[in-house]
Amino acid sequence: MTVTVHDCKLIDLPKISTRKGAITPIYGGEHVPFEIKRAYYLYDVPGGASRGGHAHLHLQQLVVSVMGAFDVVVDDGHEKKRFHLDRAYYGLYIPIMIWRELENFSSGGICLVLASAPYDPDDYIRDYDVFLTARRSSK
Ligand code: TYD
Repeated sequence: MTVTVHDCKLIDLPKISTRKGAITPIYGGEHVPFEIKRAYYLYDVPGGASRGGHAHLHLQQLVVSVMGAFDVVVDDGHEKKRFHLDRAYYGLYIPIMIWRELENFSSGGICLVLASAPYDPDDYIRDYDVFLTARRSSK
């Protein structure tokens, strides 16, 4: 079955509140539907800047705004959907073969990404026309 933007879902994460602050633990296979093989974070992103602009052939991700806010626009080549992420206790699950743009970063924002595989430049589709062709040929 081909994935669509409707497979991109906001996932509620646990929030443990203590008198000294809050903690959010995340387990692969429990809170996210994949085994976590890599974590990375985007930071020092200038306010208002955009990131992303690609799709992945095999990679699944959970994107969390652990500080500040940004928007994620997901696109399956047919339909687009915008998510505003501004809390550390939920994240956006992005399956394979979804084009994504991260937009409107607040200054000082930090975006945590949990990923299902190690970094692999060959897993990226960075050309939107190539993405559309790949989507159409997978139908
Ligand atoms: P890239 O994925 O192109 O960033 P974005 O699409 O968000 O603008 O990555 C930017 C650079 O960082 C690129 O040179 C590859 C490198 N990189 C790694 O080495 N490991 C990683 O896990 C990631 C995500 C990027």
